[in-house]
Amino acid sequence: MNQEITQAINRDGIGYLDQSEAVKARFESIRQREVILEVRDLGKRFRSPQGEVDALRGINFSVHRREFICVIGPSGCGKSTLARIIAGLDHHTSGEALLDGKPITGPGQDRGMVFQGYSLFPWLTVKKNVMFGPLMNRRGDAESDALLWLELVGLEKFADAYPHQLSGGMRQRVAIARALVNQPRILLMDEPFGALDAQTRAKMQSHLIDIWRNVDVTVLFITHDLDEAIYLADRILVLKAHPGEVQEIIEVPVPRPRSPAQFDSPEFRATKARLAELIHPEPEPMPEDEQAVKPHLIRFTNVADNVE
Ligand SMILES: Nc1ncnc2c1ncn2[C@@H]1O[C@H](COP(=O)(O)OP(=O)(O)O)[C@@H](O)[C@H]1O
Ligand SMILES: [Mg+2]
Repeated sequence: MNQEITQAINRDGIGYLDQSEAVKARFESIRQREVILEVRDLGKRFRSPQGEVDALRGINFSVHRREFICVIGPSGCGKSTLARIIAGLDHHTSGEALLDGKPITGPGQDRGMVFQGYSLFPWLTVKKNVMFGPLMNRRGDAESDALLWLELVGLEKFADAYPHQLSGGMRQRVAIARALVNQPRILLMDEPFGALDAQTRAKMQSHLIDIWRNVDVTVLFITHDLDEAIYLADRILVLKAHPGEVQEIIEVPVPRPRSPAQFDSPEFRATKARLAELIHPEPEPMPEDEQAVKPHLIRFTNVADNVE
């Protein structure tokens, strides 16, 4: 067993694989639910003039109804590629991805998407942004649907505002309302809070949990933030890079309902230690002659600052 896990267990007497009876029962009940998304031996090879890149290789996992799955991994490990394939915006080159048992071949109403960059139409009001999907699909009363979902994300007062009048967090709440108004089977979120400041980000995480508890939707949430993944997820799919492969799928032992106070719980710490060791493995020791800083090479500070 790796030293870091052992330390985490020693300090708190608990490891990331230890689950309380309540947590065990929750995972039991999740496994009984129908499978919404099934990814089987999925691969994606990009061909470019520089050569071929295996962005994803042999990816296998299933997501059950109303499960919250986080995908985590270092930059370039294929997280966005995976989200784009499930969204139907990109094609895989091997294996398959099934939504409700049917192969994904292109985009569809059954998937909602919230990405990092603000994807709202700047020339439409908040309400009209949310009405866009229902109007396109000629489904129901688009305006009252839009207002209902804006209320759920707490922005009904801003229905007639334009996106540029809102803060970053509020714009992402509109993006969530716009994705959910179509009542998708799965909500795909690719680092949706990555551009927000730490405080807004924390609020958005709690807000997203509240929304998810009130809506019949399954969430696949991509992040490279360990705390965010543990706080949000039922299970965390850990990817490694080059090629992008599944390292481990972790059942988060932190009980629900979640609260920020749990960041300091033994379960949280043990899970974080495991994620850290998967994602940031011990660096290879450098050859001795490269270890020392070579002050004669470059100075990044003005010598006259005289700090030494
Ligand atoms: N359109 C593309 N053409 C060629 N290579 C690509 C393309 N898109 C992504 N890649 C490569 O696939 C790998 C995974 O990229 P990506 O899914 O964006 O990773 P992540 O979102 O985890 O940072 C990277 O090595 C990236 O350079
Ligand atoms: Mg990405």
